[in-house]
Amino acid sequence: MEKGILKLNLSKKSFFFKTLLILISFCLTLSCSQISSDYQAVASRHHLATDIGMEVLNRGGNAVDAAVAVAFALAVVNPSAGNIGGGGFMLIHLAEKSQNIALDYRERAPLKSSTNMYLDDDGNVIKGLSLNSTLASGVPGTIAGLFYASEKFGSLKIESLIEPSIKLAKNGFTLSEFQSKNINKYKKKFKRNVDATRIFTRSGGFKTNDLLVQEDLGNTLERISQNGMSEFYSGQTARKISDFFNSNGGILSQADLLRYQVKESKSICGSYRVYKVCSMPPPSSGGIALIQMLNILENFNLSEINHNSEEYIKILISVMNYAFFDRAKYLGDSEFFNVPQKILTSKKYGKTIYDRILKKIKPNESNIIFSESEETTHFSVIDKWGNVVSNTYTLNTAYGSGIVPSGTGILMNNEMDDFSSKPGYPNAYGLVGSEANKIEPNKTPLSSMSPVIVFFEEKPFLVTGSPGGSTIITTVLQEILNIIDFQMTLNESSNKSRIHFQHLPDILFHEKIDDKIKSNLLLDRKLMNRKLGETHSILIKENIITAHSDKRRPDGKASTIHK
Ligand code: GLY
Repeated sequence: MEKGILKLNLSKKSFFFKTLLILISFCLTLSCSQISSDYQAVASRHHLATDIGMEVLNRGGNAVDAAVAVAFALAVVNPSAGNIGGGGFMLIHLAEKSQNIALDYRERAPLKSSTNMYLDDDGNVIKGLSLNSTLASGVPGTIAGLFYASEKFGSLKIESLIEPSIKLAKNGFTLSEFQSKNINKYKKKFKRNVDATRIFTRSGGFKTNDLLVQEDLGNTLERISQNGMSEFYSGQTARKISDFFNSNGGILSQADLLRYQVKESKSICGSYRVYKVCSMPPPSSGGIALIQMLNILENFNLSEINHNSEEYIKILISVMNYAFFDRAKYLGDSEFFNVPQKILTSKKYGKTIYDRILKKIKPNESNIIFSESEETTHFSVIDKWGNVVSNTYTLNTAYGSGIVPSGTGILMNNEMDDFSSKPGYPNAYGLVGSEANKIEPNKTPLSSMSPVIVFFEEKPFLVTGSPGGSTIITTVLQEILNIIDFQMTLNESSNKSRIHFQHLPDILFHEKIDDKIKSNLLLDRKLMNRKLGETHSILIKENIITAHSDKRRPDGKASTIHK
């Protein structure tokens, strides 16, 4: 759903009429907001969350206030990925200070975790343990992250940002057709846990327009609102979580919750043509991989190549191949492993790889099977002062482990699967890892989440991000290329097919591509048609702002408002 075009300079009549025409043509098919000399926008996966974010901006809240409110709302209305039992990354641009901050509120490995915890006596990985058991959860960071952001960068009281979500949880919200089907699809996962069965299953399944009431979650959010962050990490909620894990074969303990800390750092930034591109440093692999790929691609004259032509796709494959090869080898939590960030993101390294690509030299490879699907969710916010939040958070796979500790209503993450259970063994996204990403107590699993802010002349230009595990990185890459090299609108960009290649497995994942191109690409490797993750983006170009929620997934909404 594309929404909103705001124009700042109406001095020239012809320009005004041209803009008006564009606006009308958008409004015929899409809902639009007003024209203004000042703008704000929210784009998220669920319309109710977007509305809550917009309401916060409308009453004078800043981008961080709105982001916190949106994150709490998505925990209720988008339970597959929105969460308080998981973690994520928040990229914040503070306009006044011209600062780009990266908040890492991702899960940490529990203190009792160990490198071989998912292996049997013969050293084989026990299937499902890192995904569907009480051993699958890392220590959740979302509540700490949202409180940290609110206290340090917000301007409104956090209680007022949680309140709409308490209501939504207690009174319920209407499930869309997509959501009811999606929840029913995971019935087997929910059936393994008493509370998840009660909350997320119905005999005969959910139907469109059914009300999803989450009383326990509402009560938990209410306690968090009343007692603050400590409610989750040392209060009644902490006890409920740790007691549940303790009685059900888990290792996540009260001590883990007590010691949880958010990590604040600078975002990782590179340049692409005349733009500055900022994203998340480790423990995300996204920022490094994205900047590395852009550095290689800068050597090609992409705008002279047809978009999604065979030549273009082959260039992208070769570039993605190198980035994911390096990801597996060199990336992990930089507090535990010496990540060669400087080298990987240097222009010189990009040029070296470009030269190798021209000589058709490939990184080494072996064969791995790709398994599961993806879930995660991203939202973008800009306020009237030009502050920006680009936030991606997750439970890992859809609805995380599917485990709800008794009486909390909290779906727990299965983020431990993002570690390398064993060198070379693929995780749910088919990603392999090595020493860099092995399990160690208090370590953060390597992530692909890549919230992005692109700047033009130091001003926010593009805010974007996506779900999709490993495909997040290649999705945001193609969004950036579409906007910068091919001058597309957000709507045009998301209507274009995307591809994904991650070195291993040696399969090209693709959306719709031309049959002839497909048969030529098949000469090199297997191809697999699959839907890739949706973007929720904001673009400010030539003083016109657009916000867009990708139609790959229904229920999203992008809004802009006049201030
Ligand atoms: N759990 C998916 C990711 O962080 O990349």
